[in-house]
Amino acid sequence: MSKGLEVRLPQVVRNSSPAMTDGAEGDLIRMGVIGYGYWGPNIVRNFNGQQGSRVVAVCDKSSKALKRVQQSHPNMVVTSEHRELLAAPDIDAIAIVTPVWTHYELAKTALENGKHVFVEKPFTSTIAQAEKLIELAERKNLKLMVDYTFLFTGAVRRIGQLINDGALGNLYYYDSTRVNLVLFQHDINVIWDLAVHDLSIMNHLIREKPEAIVATGEQHLNGVADIAFLTIYYPGNIIGHVNVNWLSPVKVRTTLIGGEKKMLVWNDLEADEKIKIYDKGVAIASSEATYEALVSYRTGDMWAPRVEQVEALNIEAAYFLECIRSDKKPFNDGCAGLAVVRMLEAADESLREKGRIVQL
Ligand SMILES: NC(=O)c1ccc[n+]([C@@H]2O[C@H](COP(=O)([O-])OP(=O)(O)OC[C@H]3O[C@@H](n4cnc5c(N)ncnc54)[C@H](O)[C@@H]3O)[C@@H](O)[C@H]2O)c1
Repeated sequence: MSKGLEVRLPQVVRNSSPAMTDGAEGDLIRMGVIGYGYWGPNIVRNFNGQQGSRVVAVCDKSSKALKRVQQSHPNMVVTSEHRELLAAPDIDAIAIVTPVWTHYELAKTALENGKHVFVEKPFTSTIAQAEKLIELAERKNLKLMVDYTFLFTGAVRRIGQLINDGALGNLYYYDSTRVNLVLFQHDINVIWDLAVHDLSIMNHLIREKPEAIVATGEQHLNGVADIAFLTIYYPGNIIGHVNVNWLSPVKVRTTLIGGEKKMLVWNDLEADEKIKIYDKGVAIASSEATYEALVSYRTGDMWAPRVEQVEALNIEAAYFLECIRSDKKPFNDGCAGLAVVRMLEAADESLREKGRIVQL
């Protein structure tokens, strides 16, 4: 327990919980958050801001992190001991916002103790861990959600709508560049850090199970790949490509999505017109008589549809709570998490073998 921090978790939680004073304790979902590094403050702020939910306790091993919690949220209980939080009887759900190698043990204990779990991406370090957590959550009838924040952004929700409405026609490709100059992670490579976003977005938008993956890349500085290129094969000739790089002089977040009817450019760094849809395409008609291919190009209008400007995590936090309240299965559940971990493991295997194609 960190020096100077008084933590008697279950009791303090019980005393400080508004549920005990407004008579609505049955409805209030009390959250505990483990991990208050870079991403944790966003999780705490967004869950705490929801109606009918409170973050009642935050855990971090670092006393500096706990001091930051106390400065921003003086009413929250803090502890450096995750076991205390995971065992607290007055906590209904746990958000795990720690490095990926810790996710499995923390999520497992939380589920064993009857808590719903919201866990950061990537879900787990291995397929076997993901499968065990899915089985445990099902057996205990608890919600297990993986934080795929991008799926809740206005841009991805709008693109999903366009695809579902058939505006793009049959999909041809998803091609993403996600590069910048960042502090390296030590425990994971650039694929597990950055490409994980694209893999979750692709699976969500394409709605097919990927068939195979090819990964190439290289390491230059700290023993893990810092640049990588992934190719993902989906059924129906849909191909995904992802370029991730920690050593880029500029930040780029641009995705091209090509369909037979329309093509789309999503530039996530644009403030207003994040998505541009191009009425462009190519049609080929072959003439049997001459065996000639007749190629016609279509170059129509471009327009930028309205994209809702809301904080994705806020919507995602509300969705998690709604899934608990109405006993609904989240679409970004453990199985969605497992699908991406499967791709990440396959990508690592391909990377080790300099781009051998790995079937999924
Ligand atoms: N969804 C997103 O867009 C998004 C963005 C950034 C990070 N993340 C994910 O969030 C997770 C955390 O990333 P980060 O960048 O915040 O990392 P970080 O290293 O900045 O913070 C992690 C914190 O967890 C604490 N911690 C580690 N093990 C602990 C334990 N057993 N008990 C208590 N505290 C512990 C550390 O002290 C640290 O403060 C990762 O899984 C990462 O992939 C997701």
